[in-house]
Amino acid sequence: MNETLIQGAYIIAGLLFILALAGLSKHETAVQGNKYGIVGMAIALVATLWLATKSAGFDALGIIAVAMAIGAVVGITLARKVEMTGMPELIAMLHSFVGLAAVIVGWNSSYESAAYPGIHDGEVFVGVFIGAVTFTGSIVAYLKLSAKMKSAPLVLPGRHVLNLGIIVAFVVMMVVYILVPHENVFLRQLLLGIMTVLALFLGWHLVASIGGGDMPVVVSMLNSYSGWAAAAAGFLLNNDLLIITGALVGSSGAYLSYIMCRAMNRSFISVIAGGFGSDGAVVGEAKDYGEHRETNAIEVADSLKNAHEVIITPGYGMATAQAQYAVAELTSQLRKRGVNVRFGIHPVAGRLPGHMNVLLAEAKVPYDIVLEMDEINEDFPETDVVLVIGANDTVNPAAQDDPTSPIAGMPVLEVWKSAEVVVFKRSMNTGYAGVQNPLFFKDNSAMLFGDAKERVEDIVKAL
Ligand code: TAP
Repeated sequence: MNETLIQGAYIIAGLLFILALAGLSKHETAVQGNKYGIVGMAIALVATLWLATKSAGFDALGIIAVAMAIGAVVGITLARKVEMTGMPELIAMLHSFVGLAAVIVGWNSSYESAAYPGIHDGEVFVGVFIGAVTFTGSIVAYLKLSAKMKSAPLVLPGRHVLNLGIIVAFVVMMVVYILVPHENVFLRQLLLGIMTVLALFLGWHLVASIGGGDMPVVVSMLNSYSGWAAAAAGFLLNNDLLIITGALVGSSGAYLSYIMCRAMNRSFISVIAGGFGSDGAVVGEAKDYGEHRETNAIEVADSLKNAHEVIITPGYGMATAQAQYAVAELTSQLRKRGVNVRFGIHPVAGRLPGHMNVLLAEAKVPYDIVLEMDEINEDFPETDVVLVIGANDTVNPAAQDDPTSPIAGMPVLEVWKSAEVVVFKRSMNTGYAGVQNPLFFKDNSAMLFGDAKERVEDIVKAL
């Protein structure tokens, strides 16, 4: 395989990655999209291995094979073990590896800089910076998502000035680094070292100062950073495919973050800058909302029998209870009785983008009755019964009614506008954002306590 063939293979792999992304954007084409991605990655791997043997001889293959075997064992073990609910943590952890790799590639490349013009120095500096921010930021995201660290935002005094100061220091140090003659090894390494430490701190601080409600955006933002870190490594290693792939991941992650920000009414810039949206907000406040009402499976089954229009709004609790199969069974029974059952999916329901859609698709709920929030929100006033299955923040009216709420302004499913709401959860505890939900205390709401899967099965039996 000569140079031209390798470049050709890289272009084909790049195109397959673009097709993979396009495929993954819809339920119907997601499996095909994954297949394009797998074939693209296989082509990329073979071409890269060939390139490595050309430049470093067949001995390099042995070392790469050992590294790949270790990676494969760790990857396959983790992928088999991880629950759907633990995916965001795993993704955050994997992003941290990309960041670390970019830091190592950058530092390694800095020792070879002597042979390259100034632009290479700039690439080293940018690569190490993005990599270090991604590395520590992803570790904090992992700790927050797995509840090993408090999800409340860290509020350091003057934190925005601090972030801005580090970015300015980075730019100044980069200019000096490019201008300093290569013989001055000590000063160059000192600059790179100080910048690495500052960038590690910045990554930690950026994510630590973002509150729980904004975490979905952080995960996709870190996804984007890891893409840019990979692209920077691609420049350093002179590898076009890594640049293309990194740019694809970087831009799609940034775009996904933007879409999520819109869905949560957060400004993209303020989320990136760290926790503006959660300034001074009191989380988990003890306001008196009155009494809540309890119901049972038999009563809910009766309401459902008499209903014409039913909307189910699932949330994180459906995922933890693994209630999707019972929910699918309930849906099919009601549809057989002529009830019009539809699903309303909030863009950040659950713990990762598309979480609910994946679960419902797994349980074979027809796609055409699974609607996005914007498609269904106006239909609640004409709905007889809404089943809120393990959702909380995404159906919280305080987002609209209480400007002091930490989730104020976040678009929510307006379930309380329907005739009757049944909330499936185990207790009166708060959801992910840690805020109380006035929905539970409304006259047309009733709580059905217990594990969501068991309660839905009880209703199916009662029907
Ligand atoms: P949440 O607000 O997290 O509420 C889930 C509710 O499910 C909890 O109040 C819990 O109440 C209940 N629950 C848990 N296990 C249950 C079980 N086995 N049976 C019955 N109920 C159970 O969920 P949501 O409405 O889906 O909102 C998602 C939240 O996560 C948002 O704040 C969002 O910003 C955040 N988030 C989203 C993502 C993405 S991308 N989707 C990523 C990270 C964070 P009990 O404890 O009383 O049972």
